[in-house]
Amino acid sequence: MTATVAESPFEEEEKRDGEGGGAAAPPDPFDRDVLPAPKGASRRLLGSLLRPHRARVAVAAVLLLLQQAAVQAGPLLVAYAIDRAVPALRAGDHGPLTAVAAGYALCALSSGGLQYAFVRAAARINQSVLLELRGRIHRHGQALSVDFHDRYTSGRLISRSTTDVEALRELLDEGLQELLGVTLSVVYICATLFWLDIGLGGAALLSFVPLFLLVQNFRRRSMRVYRKRSTAIATVIVKFVETMNGIRPVQAFRRERSGDAEFGELNDRHLKVNGDSILEMARYVVSSRLVANIAVAVIVLWSAQRVATGSLELGVLAAAALYLRRLYDPIDRLGMFLNSYQSAAASLEKIAGLLAQVPSVPEPVRPRPLPERSADMPGRPVVFEGVSFAYRTGGEVLPRFDLEIPAGQTVAVVGATGAGKSTLAKLLARFYDPTEGRVLLDGTDLRDLATPELRRGVVMVTQEAFLFSGTVAENIAIGRPDASREEIERAAKAIGAHDFITALPDGYDTDVRKRGGRISAGQRQLVAFARALLADPAVLILDEATSSLDVPGERAVQQAMDTVLRGRTAMVIAHRLSTVEIADRVLVMDAGRIVEDGRPADLIAGTGRFAGLHRAWRDSLA
Ligand SMILES: Nc1ncnc2c1ncn2[C@@H]1O[C@H](COP(=O)(O)OP(=O)(O)OP(=O)(O)O)[C@@H](O)[C@H]1O
Ligand SMILES: [Mg+2]
Repeated sequence: MTATVAESPFEEEEKRDGEGGGAAAPPDPFDRDVLPAPKGASRRLLGSLLRPHRARVAVAAVLLLLQQAAVQAGPLLVAYAIDRAVPALRAGDHGPLTAVAAGYALCALSSGGLQYAFVRAAARINQSVLLELRGRIHRHGQALSVDFHDRYTSGRLISRSTTDVEALRELLDEGLQELLGVTLSVVYICATLFWLDIGLGGAALLSFVPLFLLVQNFRRRSMRVYRKRSTAIATVIVKFVETMNGIRPVQAFRRERSGDAEFGELNDRHLKVNGDSILEMARYVVSSRLVANIAVAVIVLWSAQRVATGSLELGVLAAAALYLRRLYDPIDRLGMFLNSYQSAAASLEKIAGLLAQVPSVPEPVRPRPLPERSADMPGRPVVFEGVSFAYRTGGEVLPRFDLEIPAGQTVAVVGATGAGKSTLAKLLARFYDPTEGRVLLDGTDLRDLATPELRRGVVMVTQEAFLFSGTVAENIAIGRPDASREEIERAAKAIGAHDFITALPDGYDTDVRKRGGRISAGQRQLVAFARALLADPAVLILDEATSSLDVPGERAVQQAMDTVLRGRTAMVIAHRLSTVEIADRVLVMDAGRIVEDGRPADLIAGTGRFAGLHRAWRDSLA
């Protein structure tokens, strides 16, 4: 594939980036559809997809060669019939004509059979290639770090694995077959014409010069249109997914109308680009037919003259006329093929760009195991050593700091919104790697831990408490997939979720996405707690994980927290100060710095920020 990145197929996008993002910020390459990829990435991707099917590809190629040979034998038999069999028949010999008829029938039959075999073989290859490609996109999307997903929207990922894979499917299913068929028939026909008569062969070849120029021109122009078109459809999908994902705020703020307008604009843009591509196609078809018809007329006229002067046999003229029709007929379809080729190339380029991304939080090459945990101390110590951190898209969020958390300690982190609490937690869960310094779990750099070990070591429960489709029991079991039903129920009982779960229509087997399985935000958090308890991590991070639990049930919440936290090292981020009181230690953060650090009682007794916060909270309760 020759889908190299053109200079700039997205002028419009670039302009918008420039206007929108403020003068200082350079445009983020992730705002565009085509991610930077090494040269030739598309071709290598296609090669790597086809390589496992080499043998089948070879078989399909042979089938196609034979099929075309059978198809192209027809006019040759006609020529033979006119020039040899008919005179023989006049002389009373039926043999040659019978042979021609039998040969014709045989060719027709075998070309049908061969075509069937080829289509089957090709379909099998295509299916496996597409299956593999979709799988790769999914696996790769999962493997890429949080940092990537922050910037590349899920709508884009969806359009990669739907429209882009679909464009490739079209190419493989229809286009490629077409191209191979056309190329082969051109080769066969030209060779036969040359064999019949050098002059005819030469004339046919000559007629390809203007056709070739036309095709080149079409290719160049439609490449641009196609890139634009596939970007336009991707934008439509991105917008659609965003709106539907955020349907609650959209409706809460009555944004439907303006959302509709924005969507309409994108849709219009897509429609317009689509119209452009159809227009290009129409121009091409009309001009190529014109050239082809002129060529046929000129060659046939010239040949007729030669027949008249006796330098060409009549049968050869008949065969040539038939061949010329066959030669030019597929030229429009070649345009169609080029169309699907262009869009597939554009799509492949985007998929290759996505697959070329490497996780910013990579797996260690030589992972190190954690030391054994002792039975009486399930927690492990944590050390932030000379750590500083900046998100890729912004300035420094956490200036350089050191922090030691002994095994089993519960640390509460408080501070104003945007102070960097969640960022600190995400570094500990290794959603991101620090810009500088290291985070150590029981003496081992998080970067040296294999993912399964890291996930057993550190678990983070957040406010969203996401539930996957499936039953409640399955959702809890995500914490430890090999857990028995008994263990799952024990975990749910320990954090006080058992009662509400058994009250659901099917108890633990209730499907959380089905009617009747709807569970409230607070209940979701309880399920997430049970999941974390079952996972039994050494370090537990709760980021606003109790925010949806009701205050009247606060005692129950405290009890759940006590159960989950017992013996573990914990980092608890909470706005509710009653939650903070169960901590052994409080960190107060401000603009990315830890400004206070001490036991809750000591801080409350002092005159710092936490004391102030605490007093205000007490007053609010009174
Ligand atoms: N994915 C991100 N990319 C870029 N900047 C981010 C990202 N997430 C957070 N930030 C920025 O980092 C800073 C700290 O954010 P963080 O989420 O850690 O705050 P927080 O203390 O948890 O706030 P809250 O109490 O509101 O949850 C903020 O200025 C925020 O804008
Ligand atoms: Mg936060």
